[in-house]
Amino acid sequence: MRVLRDRPQLVAMHREWARKERGTIALVPTMGNLHEGHMALVRHARERAQRVVVSIFVNPLQFDRAEDLEHYPRTLDADLRKLTEAGVDAAFCPSEDDMYPQGDDPPVRVVVPVLSEILEGAFRPGHFDGVATVVTKLLNLVRPDMSLFGEKDYQQFRLIERMVDGLDIPTRIEAIPTVRAPDGLALSSRNSRLSEDARAVAPELKRVLDEVATVCRAATRADADRIPEVERRASDRLREAGFDPEYLSVRRAVDLKEPETGTPLAGQDLVVLAAAWLEHVRLIDNVRIRGAADASA
Ligand code: PAJ
Repeated sequence: MRVLRDRPQLVAMHREWARKERGTIALVPTMGNLHEGHMALVRHARERAQRVVVSIFVNPLQFDRAEDLEHYPRTLDADLRKLTEAGVDAAFCPSEDDMYPQGDDPPVRVVVPVLSEILEGAFRPGHFDGVATVVTKLLNLVRPDMSLFGEKDYQQFRLIERMVDGLDIPTRIEAIPTVRAPDGLALSSRNSRLSEDARAVAPELKRVLDEVATVCRAATRADADRIPEVERRASDRLREAGFDPEYLSVRRAVDLKEPETGTPLAGQDLVVLAAAWLEHVRLIDNVRIRGAADASA
């Protein structure tokens, strides 16, 4: 596996690939500290493309809290070992200076209006502008035929999809289902910061989301008017379990808009998303609700 430390090395590799047979290229963008969730994306890429590039870059532009950036786990040697074992062709691990030569106020930022302002965006101002900017740069540098994202960060996946569509970036965006621990907790680099007690409580987040999904699927005479009440009760459940929820919201899966009031949930493709603090760790998760059934018919 090639380890590319800066943009010129990546460009040079591209030239070399172009001279030989270029083949299809898949990109998996990450911030490192790789776990089974990341590796599922890598394996998917390996099956679908001739060349797999994984980027490892803790992007300062998308952190809204300095403390979170400072504590973000960095485990480059272990990450590179995992990627080598998985048969990855190249790991792109640039420095901050290389990606942002002008420092933390880059001359260009990419903004995806509306989708970047709701849910996560409402609680983490500027976060998605940082994500959209770095992913655009990575796509322009690597020029992949396909790019893989996890459903774990569902809003991020939809935002990137819209950005690529809106800017005519020639890559296909694919999403991979969330990889979970046996007790249901979505794997995340931030889980390692949970205390033993908090780790025992953490799977409750997924359980509550599952319950909301079940209520929506089984809703009789269902219309969207009941959703706020369902959301409120679920948030209360999280509080009782020891979480401090920021949002818990049932949305349309395709654009994350609120389901229209007065229309049945039946057949709608929905998703329930939540962010909640547990001790000093912020967890996010979501569950898809495909084709909620309308038993009132
Ligand atoms: P990071 O949190 O490292 O995640 C990299 C990719 O792995 C994302 O697409 C994320 O959704 C996916 N992922 C994380 N945990 C997962 C899990 N449990 N199951 C499935 N997929 C999972 O997301 C980012 O980095 C950054 O915002 C990035 C896109 C790299 C831009 O900086």
